[in-house]
Amino acid sequence: MSLTPAVLEVRDLQTAYGLSRVLFGVSIEVHAGECVCLIGRNGVGKTTTMRSIMGLTPPQAGRVVWKSTDITGWPPYRVARAGLGFVPEDRRIFADLTVWENLDVASRGPRRDASAGGAWTIARVYDLFPTLAELTSRPGGFLSGGEQQMLTIARTLMGNPELLLLDEPSEGLAPLVVDHLRDQIARLKHEGLTILLAEQNVEFSLELADRVYVLEKGAIRFSGPAARLREDEALRHELLAL
Ligand SMILES: Nc1ncnc2c1ncn2[C@@H]1O[C@H](COP(=O)(O)OP(=O)(O)OP(=O)(O)O)[C@@H](O)[C@H]1O
Ligand SMILES: [Mg+2]
Repeated sequence: MSLTPAVLEVRDLQTAYGLSRVLFGVSIEVHAGECVCLIGRNGVGKTTTMRSIMGLTPPQAGRVVWKSTDITGWPPYRVARAGLGFVPEDRRIFADLTVWENLDVASRGPRRDASAGGAWTIARVYDLFPTLAELTSRPGGFLSGGEQQMLTIARTLMGNPELLLLDEPSEGLAPLVVDHLRDQIARLKHEGLTILLAEQNVEFSLELADRVYVLEKGAIRFSGPAARLREDEALRHELLAL
């Protein structure tokens, strides 16, 4: 366990959609500079956990503490302004705007102070994602799934987040595209960005994560260093049937 205080502390989160309870006391911590992964199958509550943190689906009970401030129930725009950038799984980009315009629009909102690696600009984003630079004039609606995923991440980076929440970035992408995306996320991590990742793709998660939480039916079944799951095949099999 790291000795630095957690930047994000999620304590005993309980969230429901109407009468249907989905999270039954989820607690997670993320420390500065860490990549933490929430691993779990379809429907276990990965997206709901992220939505609860972001204020999109406020929890019924529990706390979300960001850098010692209780942000539970804050509206999403305030959570974003506080430094949390959410990349949703459905990749909502503007189909009629070009790649450059999608990024430009994202840079016009209220901007935060520059984070660790300095403020994000379109040039810096294009350096991280050269593919997007090549496609700068192409409308978002004509991008492939992988290109759309890059643009969704890039657009969120334009808001200079301190913590990036990535919801299933590898979903629906071809293996080679997933490898490429993993390298780009690894680069963000090496630049010092703190990342909370939700994934079903265990291999992808374990390559990137420092620590993991395995989520099952809205509760944490396991938490520990990613290395433990990488090295212990029996544990991996028990927890993830792999
Ligand atoms: N808007 C909603 N209204 C009602 N139930 C919902 C809603 N969104 C999600 N759920 C239910 O909550 C549970 C958790 O869903 P969630 O999307 O958080 O899971 P997930 O782990 O992200 O799954 P996936 O890997 O498929 O994205 C599921 O049973 C789902 O059907
Ligand atoms: Mg999900």
